[in-house]
Parts: sequence; C-alpha cells; structure tokens
Amino acid sequence: MAVNDYKYDVCVVGGCGHVGLPLAIMFANRDKKVSIYDINENNIATVKSGVVPFHEEGAQPLLKNALASGNLQLSSDASVLGESEIIIVIIGTPVDEHLNPRVDILKKTLKSISQYMTDDKLLILRSTVYPGVTKRTKDWLEEDGHHCDIAFCPERILEGKAVEELTSLPQIVSSFTESGVNRASALFKLLTDDIVVVEPIEAELTKLCTNVWRYIKFAVSNQFYTIANDYDVDFYKIHNAMTYNYPRCKDFPRPGFAAGPCLFKDTMQLGAFSDNDFNLGHTAMLINEGLPNYVCKTLRKQYDLSKLTVGILGMAFKAESDDIRESLSYKLKKIFDFEAKEVLCSDPYVKDDRFVSEEELITRSDIIIIATPHKLYKELTIPSDKKAVDIWNILGNGGKI
Ligand SMILES: NC(=O)c1ccc[n+]([C@@H]2O[C@H](COP(=O)([O-])OP(=O)(O)OC[C@H]3O[C@@H](n4cnc5c(N)ncnc54)[C@H](O)[C@@H]3O)[C@@H](O)[C@H]2O)c1
Repeated sequence: MAVNDYKYDVCVVGGCGHVGLPLAIMFANRDKKVSIYDINENNIATVKSGVVPFHEEGAQPLLKNALASGNLQLSSDASVLGESEIIIVIIGTPVDEHLNPRVDILKKTLKSISQYMTDDKLLILRSTVYPGVTKRTKDWLEEDGHHCDIAFCPERILEGKAVEELTSLPQIVSSFTESGVNRASALFKLLTDDIVVVEPIEAELTKLCTNVWRYIKFAVSNQFYTIANDYDVDFYKIHNAMTYNYPRCKDFPRPGFAAGPCLFKDTMQLGAFSDNDFNLGHTAMLINEGLPNYVCKTLRKQYDLSKLTVGILGMAFKAESDDIRESLSYKLKKIFDFEAKEVLCSDPYVKDDRFVSEEELITRSDIIIIATPHKLYKELTIPSDKKAVDIWNILGNGGKI
C-alpha cells in the first residue's frame, strides 16, 4: 500500500488518555486524518459524544471541531492501526512494587499491534520510557520481520496545559534513521517549528532528567521547609527573602505535596537505570513522600489527634486539576484515618460521593489541611479557633504548622 493510500495519517494508541487525546485533537485540527485506538470503551463513548473526559484547558471546543470536521475517529478495534500511516504509541513504563520499570506492558502492546506494522510506516513512542526501550522496540519489531522507521518523541507538557504547550514548547525528536527523523519532524512541525533532534537514548534520558530535576527541586524546597518549621520559623519569610528580586533563586519552588503519575515514577526509573546508585533521586523521593508523615508527626506533638476531626481540602494531585493519580492527599487521608477521630475530604474538581463541600468540611473539622493549592481556596476563611495547615501558603498567612 502506498503511503498516500492510508485512510488515516496518524493513529494514536492510548488516544483517550491525558497525553494522547490533546495530541490527537491538535493534529485533527491541523487537518490531519486522525484515528484513536483505545481499550477504554467508556472514554471512547465520552469522547465520541464531544466531551473531554478530564480537565484540559481549551480542549473542549477543539474536540468538537475535530469531530465535526470528520478528521477524528475513535475505535477500540486495533485493526484501525492497519489503516494508519503513522502510529503514535502512548503506553508508558510504570514502576512495580520493587520500584523497577515494568517494560512488559509496552512490549505486550507492541507485540499485539505488530501484525499491523508494515515497513512503510512510522512508529513514534510518545510516553516516558525506561532508557533503552526505543532500541528494544526496534529489536521486538525486527523479531517479527518489521523494519519500519521508529522514533521517540517525548511529551513534555504540563498536564492541563497541552493545548497551549504543544505549540509553544520545543519538540524533541529522535530516531535511528534519517527518514524517521524527517517524518517525525514534519509531523510535529504542524505544532511547532522548534524541533530538537537527538539520538533515541539521549531523548529518553532528556525526558527522565527533565522530570527528575523538577522532582528534586520540589524536594529541596520541602526539606528547607521542614528544617525551618522544626525551628518554629515560617519558611515563607525565608522563601520570600530568597526569591525577591534575586534572579538566581527565581525558579525556587514553593514547598508542598509533590505528587502525580509522573515525577515519582520517573525518578525511580532513573534510579533503576543507574543500578540504584542515585542517592539524590532516592533522597528526593523520601522527602517528598515523607511530607504527609511530617505533617502528621508535627500535629501529633501539638494535639491529641484521636479526639479530633481532620479535614483535607484538595484531593487532586495538583491545582485546578481533577486528576487524583498518585495524589499525596490520599496518603494524608490514610495516615489520619488511623490517627484521627474522623477524616473529611473535599475537592471542587474531583467527583466522589464521599466528599463534602468546603463549607461543611471547615465547619466540622478541628484541623484543616490545604493539600492542593486550588486557586479558589484563596477565598476561604478558616475561623481562628481551628488549626489551618497551609504548606502552600494559599491563604497568605504563612506556612507554619
Ligand atoms: N499525564 C502527563 O502529563 C504526562 C506527561 C508526559 C508523559 N506522560 C507519560 O505518558 C504515559 C501515558 O500517560 P497518560 O497520563 O496519558 O495516561 P492515561 O491513563 O491518562 O492514558 C492512557 C490511555 O491508554 C489507554 N490504554 C492502555 N493500554 C492500552 C492498550 N494496550 N491499547 C490501547 N490503549 C491503551 C488507556 O485506556 C488510557 O486511555 C505515561 O507513561 C506517562 O508517564 C504523561
């Protein structure tokens, strides 16, 4: 089949997810014929009905436009891959209970779609992968007799900001072949002219190092926060003094819960890749994951928690998001389910029948922890007879516990 005979220019495997859907929508809005292949039938139905199943700024009208134009089709039948010239795979490598990468999931998916690969196709890996996976992908496809172009073009957008960042950030492109680089570059040039070409192993490590760098920066801030707090000093006095008109500390982050589906996992991937000789990464993980425990330890010194109700404001892993994956709010909840009399939870973006409104949570709780810095919490008033824990300093009264 000649390249031009394909029904679709692009097929996005895992295309109903947080990474895949915005990308598919953007290409469809750039006049590409796009198919989505996903195993989640519910999300396929939701997207087909014109609804983005999660919070993604600006994506809703673009989805409607893509569907109305006929440029975007969805299927849970893998045969759609056979009708597509470029296959973008967004199946990641999570870590297992030993904090080692689970490459088997991607391998299984690749083997299951291998029957639809032909040598004129371009396969692009898009999710964050364990270093070396792009090379192994080439090996696995060659075992099945396929010699198509293979590229690794990592996603580096901030979840929720895909529509803006897919066109404003540079795109890293890597492949083993010149035609792979050229074809992948041509595709992403529909979104940005800023293309950075490196080798596949360099691209894999670039993506991991980017995420790990952010995770370590959050850990530094969290460590400084606990040091200050233990000495009864409000870290925001220090943070403000450090960052005020001082360019070299401009990107120093605020302390707070560093969570979500990527940063922890990717730090552990780099740890596994360095044969666990990655003290900086493992220490960052202990600090960030230890912050909920630190909150509890500090409160336990001040109160008899077993007699008190603790309210957690914000269950999403980050502000203005409905994504609860790997949210440290749930770790907080588990800790206080054991320590406190009762735990109440609330989040304006996360739907859960067990949650209560912010007003009810504040009324019924003795201790209120602002776990996610949703902007609308800035408007809240917490009565002075209640203990507010505000590590993010969203209320502007400092972050001291
Ligand atoms: N969320 C982010 O901001 C972000 C950013 C950069 C990289 N990543 C990486 O991208 C990967 C995907 O993340 P996500 O947030 O989009 O996940 P997600 O869970 O939102 O989406 C994954 C999608 O893939 C589908 N899927 C799973 N197995 C499949 C299969 N065998 N065949 C077809 N579809 C399948 C799921 O149904 C789901 O719709 C992760 O590895 C993550 O590390 C995520």
